[in-house]
Amino acid sequence: MILAIESSCDDSAISITEIATNKLLFHKKISQELEHSVYGGVVPELAARLHAEALPKILEACEPYFKDLKAVAVTSTPGLAVTLVEGVIMAKAIAVALDIPIIGVNHLVGHIYSLFIEKETVFPLTVLLVSGGHTQVMEVKSLTDIKTVAKSMDDSFGESFDKCAKMMGLGYPGGPLIQDLAKDGDRLKYNFTVPLHQSPLIAFSYSGLKNAVRLAVVDAGDDKEKYKDIAASFEHIATKHLTMKLKKYFKTVRPKTFAIVGGASANLYLRAEIEKLLEPHKAELLLSELKYCSDNAAMIGRVATEMYKLDMFDSIEDLESSPRSIL
Ligand code: KG4
Ligand code: ZN
Repeated sequence: MILAIESSCDDSAISITEIATNKLLFHKKISQELEHSVYGGVVPELAARLHAEALPKILEACEPYFKDLKAVAVTSTPGLAVTLVEGVIMAKAIAVALDIPIIGVNHLVGHIYSLFIEKETVFPLTVLLVSGGHTQVMEVKSLTDIKTVAKSMDDSFGESFDKCAKMMGLGYPGGPLIQDLAKDGDRLKYNFTVPLHQSPLIAFSYSGLKNAVRLAVVDAGDDKEKYKDIAASFEHIATKHLTMKLKKYFKTVRPKTFAIVGGASANLYLRAEIEKLLEPHKAELLLSELKYCSDNAAMIGRVATEMYKLDMFDSIEDLESSPRSIL
């Protein structure tokens, strides 16, 4: 079995996965959403302190599995520097205490493998990752052959939902709150410009749209009815930006199997629009189970079982957490 730890942002999670079968034997996550909600976003130092409290509590429940552990895995990149280190320190302590190897896992690869929890992998795969930290398209041939073909030049899809929710005083995380508000709004009421719509680049940008929403919110004042239309129009344009760029990309690379992963892949409007986009290509759409879209340790454990089989271990002395990803 492998014990895997996730602490890259505001979720403390630990999983136990059986190496031979990929069976998830244990998974517990303590989310910090409520604590960060009052600030309208994640406060890194507060997140680190909450991980330091939550991770040992979850680990206690894993004790019966200790004797069967063959390795310990941990998200080592990318994420918040001060929170990643909480998980890495704990993983190192476990590796030393139980005399087992350590595996540093890339969080973005984790999101890809959230598709395969208790399942076999399916490759090749074109993946759209939409989370709080990332918006990127990747061509995935295997665990060790992942190529990023498009990414955001500034903010991410999920983060733009968080910022818009903050502007409207809705709380955090903004994704589900905006999605909920948008349900009763008019998607065409606000004519926000689709980012980079005239650019030939296959890349993403959300900072301009965010600013346009800011102006609309200021203009709406306290009129909460208008917020519904702003949320609906924002969600529409944020999604249209993704589908327009993907459509362009599909002109050169035909998708056969396409997946959406990351916290924001839970967005129902996005899922429906991507389904429409894939229809003429007869491409299959893969999605993670809703409970594994947002950050979790089950996906880290799933990557780790593959890395274990390929002897992809790190040295306890040299494994460092790094806020920036190489993907
Ligand atoms: O993957 P994740 O849990 O953390 C990161 O790796 O960043 O993603 C969290 C992000 C947040 O920005 C959150 O607002 C967004 O995912 N999110 C959504 C929805 N549910 C979560 N965004 C849009 N629509 C949703 N339904
Ligand atoms: Zn994530």
